[in-house]
Amino acid sequence: MSHHSRFSPRSVLFGGDYSPEQWPESVWREDLLLMREAGVNIVTLGVFSWGLLEVDDDRWDWDWFDRIIDLLSNEGISIDLATPTASPPIWLHREHPEILPVDRRGIRYHQGGRLQWCPSHPVWQRYARRIAERLGERYGAHPAVTMWHVSNELGGGNRRCYCTASTSAFRVWLENRYEHIDAVNSAWGTAFWGHRYRRFDDVTAPLDSESAQNPSLLLDFDRFSSDALLGQFRLERDALRDAGVTTPITTNLMVSPSGSVADYASWTDDLDVVAIDHYTIAEDPRRERELAFVASRTRGLDPSRPWLVMEHSTSAVNWQRRNAPKSPGEMIRNSLQHIAHGSDGALFFQWRASASGAEQFHSAMVPHAGRDSRQWREVVELGRRLAQLDELTGSLVERSEVAILVDDVSLWAWHAGQKPLHDHPIHEDARLWFDVLSARGFGPDVVPPSSDLAGRSLIVVPSLYLVTDTTAAAIEAAVRSGSTVVIGPLSGIVDADSRIRVGGYPGAFRDMLGVVGEELVPLLDGEQLLLSSGAQMADISARLRTTTADVVEVHRGGDLDGLPAITRRAVGAGAAWHISGLVGAGFDDLVDRITGDAGLARRLPTSDDIEAVRRVSADDSWLFLINHGTTDAVVPADGTDLISGECADGRFALSAGDVAVIRERVEKRATRPV
Ligand code: GLA
Repeated sequence: MSHHSRFSPRSVLFGGDYSPEQWPESVWREDLLLMREAGVNIVTLGVFSWGLLEVDDDRWDWDWFDRIIDLLSNEGISIDLATPTASPPIWLHREHPEILPVDRRGIRYHQGGRLQWCPSHPVWQRYARRIAERLGERYGAHPAVTMWHVSNELGGGNRRCYCTASTSAFRVWLENRYEHIDAVNSAWGTAFWGHRYRRFDDVTAPLDSESAQNPSLLLDFDRFSSDALLGQFRLERDALRDAGVTTPITTNLMVSPSGSVADYASWTDDLDVVAIDHYTIAEDPRRERELAFVASRTRGLDPSRPWLVMEHSTSAVNWQRRNAPKSPGEMIRNSLQHIAHGSDGALFFQWRASASGAEQFHSAMVPHAGRDSRQWREVVELGRRLAQLDELTGSLVERSEVAILVDDVSLWAWHAGQKPLHDHPIHEDARLWFDVLSARGFGPDVVPPSSDLAGRSLIVVPSLYLVTDTTAAAIEAAVRSGSTVVIGPLSGIVDADSRIRVGGYPGAFRDMLGVVGEELVPLLDGEQLLLSSGAQMADISARLRTTTADVVEVHRGGDLDGLPAITRRAVGAGAAWHISGLVGAGFDDLVDRITGDAGLARRLPTSDDIEAVRRVSADDSWLFLINHGTTDAVVPADGTDLISGECADGRFALSAGDVAVIRERVEKRATRPV
């Protein structure tokens, strides 16, 4: 975190992306009235306004922007001011088409869409720095501008660029990482196919080829591309700081369960607040769990600070297969779920639904139908509820005894090049563990492998394909000092260079687990893996033999009949479990055995439909209870619901679809198995 400015709002933030430039000024006046009615306290301004601010090269039109900033300011609404680099002006692309990104086939993209620039191109960098500087100089000291929003969803349209500027930057990046070309040859194993490089200039971006590519090269190009996007953030952030900006600066990340475009774990030190955009998938019947997983991952990026959901939707989006609206009450639950998991606000894309343009069918706080609509009434209701919650800003989600390790670099490594099975969703294993451990009331933390493992009773390492030596050593040290660890399928197979750790799978953990995997065994369509207990595993297993581990379950039937499927080994004061496949049906008993082994006690009154999350501060604690189901429930709780004002004395009645935020009685706080 930069030392300039801490993100510490006194009120729960509520608002969204505001694009007044899409409307006549008469509508602005209505906007302000409606914002007051809903209790909006912040809007994100200017995200896509570059072409209307810098109307030609170094020709500026600030008047309309000054006016709207003053109007918002007079209304007491804070501004999260965006640098508009997500959408360069038409004139810039006309004058400098060389800034457009190039795809892996070597074809340059065209003007249109957004994020149409290469972060490594010096011409692009010059223009981006200038617009950030001008905005910083003009509005940096404005009292209504309380935070800054660099660009928008960096990488969401320009994740990888293969142009000549990128290639040059990639070579420099490699030189910094490896110093000597021989180190690259060795890390990438270029003896294979005789692809030995003589000098850094021999290396090119991994442009398309009909046959397979070197997985280590692909992975390093992904790392480089992530760093190039982070470089763009830093360039704009530094321009703002140089112009005198002292308020918090962030950018909206896209934390995704199926892998993010950048390695956000390496970005968080640069962000004054971690902020994300999140959209539920209408077709997913348990989308609230996917939201909980993403929110947990987000807080895990930096558990020491609250974060911010910068954008989510009030209802339908416009980019899924079927853009179904949210159900009545769902948006309010979604917002409060994010806050339960540590967000200090609930912001939306966007304030007023656009009439024209690429996103004209995207929902907003003010829908096309206007004020007399369910959507608007729910927005007002959400604002009313959020206003009851100001006291919990700054508090953090209670640290869990359980950590689930998830890493996007490991996911990229899995997706780089050919693998034993190509459709294995590598984060799926983490999602399954998150769900089963959440449902048991353990409130797991989802954290990057570099996070502090001290004090974790249970560490789950699900399909963590790439494991560095440092991570392997940290996990083993935690186990020796008493943690129980579960190593899932496909974990620890390759090192930081994506090189197989030979000698038997999973190389990084083989000795700790006391097993040797001789072969990976992906399932063919229709195949099932049955275990001695009757449980099933999905997707993959391995031909395992034990060296020092105890066999917990063996395979039944098929080529692996009688061979170990699940093992356990006592290691120091802890225990190391190995599960060779994706957990499937019938795993409840096993999960209970593992959590029992770890000595976990239930901390939260969660059940299948009731999500429970606790936020804590030095003196207080708040228990969020969210009823995602269709039946009323009675949940154990003690304290006062900030939203309804009702008291809970051991039990709290929570209607179907409702949310409570219970300020807990202090004397009941100590340690509270339920
Ligand atoms: C992201 C973007 C927004 C908008 C929405 C649509 O949040 O940042 O500009 O495109 O997606 O869902």
